[in-house]
Amino acid sequence: MHVAVLGAGGMLGHDVVDRCREESVECTPLNSADGDITDPLKLARAVPVCDWVINCASYTRVDDAEANVEQARRVNRDGAGHIAELCARRGIFLLHVSTDYVFDGRKQGGYVESDPINPLNVYGETKFEGEQAIRESGCRAIMMRTQALFGTHGSSFVKTIAERITKSGDPLKVVTDHVTSPTYTVHLAQAIIRLLACGKHGIVHVAATGTCTWYDLACAIVARVKPGHPVEPVTADAFQTPARRPPNATLDTTRFERWTGWAMPAWQQGIDGFLAETGLGKAAITESVNRAETNQGGE
Ligand SMILES: NC(=O)c1ccc[n+]([C@@H]2O[C@H](COP(=O)([O-])OP(=O)(O)OC[C@H]3O[C@@H](n4cnc5c(N)ncnc54)[C@H](OP(=O)(O)O)[C@@H]3O)[C@@H](O)[C@H]2O)c1
Repeated sequence: MHVAVLGAGGMLGHDVVDRCREESVECTPLNSADGDITDPLKLARAVPVCDWVINCASYTRVDDAEANVEQARRVNRDGAGHIAELCARRGIFLLHVSTDYVFDGRKQGGYVESDPINPLNVYGETKFEGEQAIRESGCRAIMMRTQALFGTHGSSFVKTIAERITKSGDPLKVVTDHVTSPTYTVHLAQAIIRLLACGKHGIVHVAATGTCTWYDLACAIVARVKPGHPVEPVTADAFQTPARRPPNATLDTTRFERWTGWAMPAWQQGIDGFLAETGLGKAAITESVNRAETNQGGE
């Protein structure tokens, strides 16, 4: 199997390329310079003869998108459409990455794939338009919606919090009334490789097992990186951001589990994996080893 990965320089794309190599899947990584998805001719030249295209390329700056609607739409709607048309023409399978932000987050419980779409911001709207463009192209595609990603090769809430508390003693203020499933990109890359082999197509929701508030998530990072660092609970209306965000857009992953026979690891395992990979949990581990050695000396 030969896979071309678009957006290979991004947070998820990077880990997808690594995972392909670990699993001996032949892989052509394409970044925005050689595989610009907004330019159909350049895209056609860049994409090699292959079995699958995995599209991790996207306009992902959620707040900036509110003021840059046309740019977000050019990448997230038109770019997705160009990729899908190319795949349809060449008989290539497409795995496209989409988002929980297509939902308004007012549902109690996890969203299933058939739930009504109602994006609250430009990013979510353009991502949904991208899904529609893929559907209209007639290509055979898996459209994988996911959420709250964190990984070594990009910026994320998890990385920001872990770095901030190692540098400063200032209390964190974190929201208690928005719920998510924080998803480690290394685990998501494993899920993507499983999806390529499952023989299905259509929309599928994939996220870490378990849900938490952003406050719970910050507390879990603090417990692992710098126990005792103060975390203050606040409500989302304390933060004014240009883009509105869904309060509870957790994803029901039953279809993914049925398709692949595999469940995603718990979000806490993702945090552990991320801290081990980045070395950001080292300070706490060294401190607890020192404490244990001091205690042993005293006994
Ligand atoms: N991050 C999250 O929390 C989250 C949540 C749900 C869903 N998702 C989805 O997951 C996917 C991956 O997200 P991510 O967090 O890994 O994003 P990311 O780190 O921002 O990476 C996006 C990549 O897209 C590339 N790109 C942008 N415009 C392009 C263009 N015109 N042509 C080709 N490449 C282009 C960027 O390249 P340059 O840097 O060179 O411009 C970058 O490498 C996206 O589809 C996103 O919508 C993300």
